[in-house]
Amino acid sequence: MSNQPLLHTYQMGDLALPNRIVMSSLTRMRANSTNHVPTALQAEYYAQRASAGLIISEATAISVDGFGWANTPGLWSKEQVAGWRQVTDAVHQRGGRIIAQLWHTGAMSHPELRNGDLPVSASDVDPLQISVTPTGRKPTVVPRPLTKEEIRATVQDFAKAGLNAIEAGFDGVQILANYLYLIPQFLNMKTNRRTDEYGGNLENRARFLFEIVEEVASAVGNKRTGIKISPMHEGGEFSANEETLPVTEYAIRKLNDYDLSHLLLMGNSTDFTGTPLEALAGDQMFEYFRPLYSGTLIANANMDRERGNHLITSGLADLVAFGRAYIANPDLVHRFQNGAPLADIDWETVYGSDGGGYSDYPFHQPIEYTGQPASSL
Ligand SMILES: Cc1cc2nc3c(=O)[nH]c(=O)nc-3n(C[C@H](O)[C@H](O)[C@H](O)COP(=O)(O)O)c2cc1C
Repeated sequence: MSNQPLLHTYQMGDLALPNRIVMSSLTRMRANSTNHVPTALQAEYYAQRASAGLIISEATAISVDGFGWANTPGLWSKEQVAGWRQVTDAVHQRGGRIIAQLWHTGAMSHPELRNGDLPVSASDVDPLQISVTPTGRKPTVVPRPLTKEEIRATVQDFAKAGLNAIEAGFDGVQILANYLYLIPQFLNMKTNRRTDEYGGNLENRARFLFEIVEEVASAVGNKRTGIKISPMHEGGEFSANEETLPVTEYAIRKLNDYDLSHLLLMGNSTDFTGTPLEALAGDQMFEYFRPLYSGTLIANANMDRERGNHLITSGLADLVAFGRAYIANPDLVHRFQNGAPLADIDWETVYGSDGGGYSDYPFHQPIEYTGQPASSL
């Protein structure tokens, strides 16, 4: 057995993983721009990364209403299911495993992405962020609050997208409850000013999240449902406030009740200095939350081989997710196994539209010296 715990096997829910290296979600804006169907290029890109213990797909909109970032994929139409099927087939043929990340952008969307309609959210509060529209990056606008009927319909949309993911051949789903999107817009006291049972105290603000968890888990199975959630400091209305940690802690403790496949927890990806999250910088995020969550914990953000191995050895994580490293290193597992150097990202092409800087990053080729002169080979 390897002396690197990252290379040890792991049983996650009903999935047997050959190693503990997870490819984190990466939005790359290569889906069809009009029908939001994943393309053959995406199938090739994901298949190249099939040696990961687990691949988490790029964020994928659950519904027309949830869509909110140009050139990203969806999971609400038959065409999208068929498009994803070529991706999951390609990954499975190479021996990999892939789950779908379910996404509702809420107020991060923009009228330009919605035929002129306002984006929806918990309340009419502009999150003061940047939307990615077909004509470039634009400031977010004041969204329209969801009615209670629309909240119920949105919860159902998450479950339907989960079922579509399974029909498309995914091995499970991950609910995106991180960052600035619709679920955090409910969790965050700055963007949720509701006075009904979905607003006010932290239990109420987390109600929407738990309705989604329950519906998705009952649609696709709790062992196939995971979640990405963390206390974050992101700027605008998402600068960490005094409720950021309490509401996330409440949610993570309560997630224990659902016996999910995993919790993906990000450590700090921004500077926590001087914020209410200061004491959670670095590995302290995992020291804080590991004792509070009994299921599979995937640690993420700013990981490298040494830190990943250390977090597993010290019992602070079961698996480790790598985001940026997977952009330029399709064979990250091989590189960790062999101590090979990691390739650098070309940031110009990260959000490009073709295979350049996407599916053309080379695999590391160890030079094997056979001892024979080249002429006799
Ligand atoms: C280009 C890019 C796209 C990303 N897209 C997503 C996404 O679609 N969903 C998500 O949850 N996180 C997304 N992330 C965040 C990563 O999944 C990961 O959490 C973050 O990059 C920290 O991990 P790292 O330090 O290994 O890169 C993205 C990050 C980058 C750099």
